[in-house]
Amino acid sequence: MKLRTLVFFNSLAVGLSVAGVNFYFQHKWNYFWLALIISFFVSYAVFYFLIEKYVYSKIKIIYKLIHSLKLGKDLKDALGEYVSSDPINDVEQEVKDWARDKKSEIDELRKQEQFRREFLSNISHEFKTPLFAIEGYVEALKDGAIDEPELAKNFLEKLSRNVDRLSYLIKDLNEISKLESGEIPIEFQKFELVALVKEVMESLELKAKKYQISMLLKEKYDQHTLVNADREKIRQVLVNLIDNSFKYGKQGGTTAVTIFKLHDQILVEITDDGIGIEEKCLPRLFERFYRTDSSRNRKIGGSGLGLAIVKHIVEAHQQTINVRSTEGLGSTFGFTLQKVAEPLISLPILNT
Ligand SMILES: Nc1ncnc2c1ncn2[C@@H]1O[C@H](COP(=O)(O)OP(=O)(O)OP(=O)(O)O)[C@@H](O)[C@H]1O
Ligand SMILES: [Mg+2]
Repeated sequence: MKLRTLVFFNSLAVGLSVAGVNFYFQHKWNYFWLALIISFFVSYAVFYFLIEKYVYSKIKIIYKLIHSLKLGKDLKDALGEYVSSDPINDVEQEVKDWARDKKSEIDELRKQEQFRREFLSNISHEFKTPLFAIEGYVEALKDGAIDEPELAKNFLEKLSRNVDRLSYLIKDLNEISKLESGEIPIEFQKFELVALVKEVMESLELKAKKYQISMLLKEKYDQHTLVNADREKIRQVLVNLIDNSFKYGKQGGTTAVTIFKLHDQILVEITDDGIGIEEKCLPRLFERFYRTDSSRNRKIGGSGLGLAIVKHIVEAHQQTINVRSTEGLGSTFGFTLQKVAEPLISLPILNT
């Protein structure tokens, strides 16, 4: 309610009360009207002055402060000072909005802080494991194992595996931080998705054999799977997802890649019939270093960065990734890509 309206009603109430009392004692309409007019104007002047001086001007300052804080300096400079014509109502709304914004900002900061703490403890754990192993083998070699050729060879192989693990870890971390900081930009290009999927599957054939898993491309759409994306990054997404389907698949199982055409997107799904994922783990699956208990228990090598990289890449394309899984039955990871519109079939123009 505006200040003038507020004061008007208050003064009218005072005026009517005074005039009413006056009429009760005097029973004269002239005095009633006179009392009404005088008390109305006097109280209007007094109320207006008092409310403006002690309440409204203060609320206006609060309002301006919150309003400009909300806008930020740049926007405020651009829009100039804004004074609401109804600060009492607006200030309530602004304070509510502001409090909500601040609360979500604080929640977000808390989450980031928690994430940072977890991240540091995870990273040190991931580095410690191979480093301790390397230390152990080097000590053992120094303590005499080097003189036993068979044992030395075995230890050196293990050493090399742990060194590889460390270098993969550093490579993945480097990649993820570059993706996050936007240092590796997405280079969009148009390419045939099916051709890329076939290339990736071929490159992973040996690995599939090692895990005794057969790969299958549901090639319903051999033509026109033209997408607009970063070919090399999508290759990595496919490699990471197919690699997971082997690691968490079952011996003699199958990994299927299916391509669906949606309205203006293409959906790629990678399905396995492996160990599956517990429902409670699904929301955290794409976090860095997150690994489910069953994969830890199976002692399958991995640092839990593969899916975080996949998510980063897909989201940097402004696309989405999702997962469906049933424990013990298998999992399906699906991501979308921007489809390049198919050319319209042009009919020859007939000259009659
Ligand atoms: N297809 C799958 N089936 C079952 N569990 C899966 C599957 N894919 C991922 N997971 C679970 O999600 C976790 C995270 O996967 P992610 O690819 O990020 O890490 P990783 O495979 O453990 O290590 P790496 O960094 O080498 O990829 C895995 O440890 C596993 O527990
Ligand atoms: Mg992985």
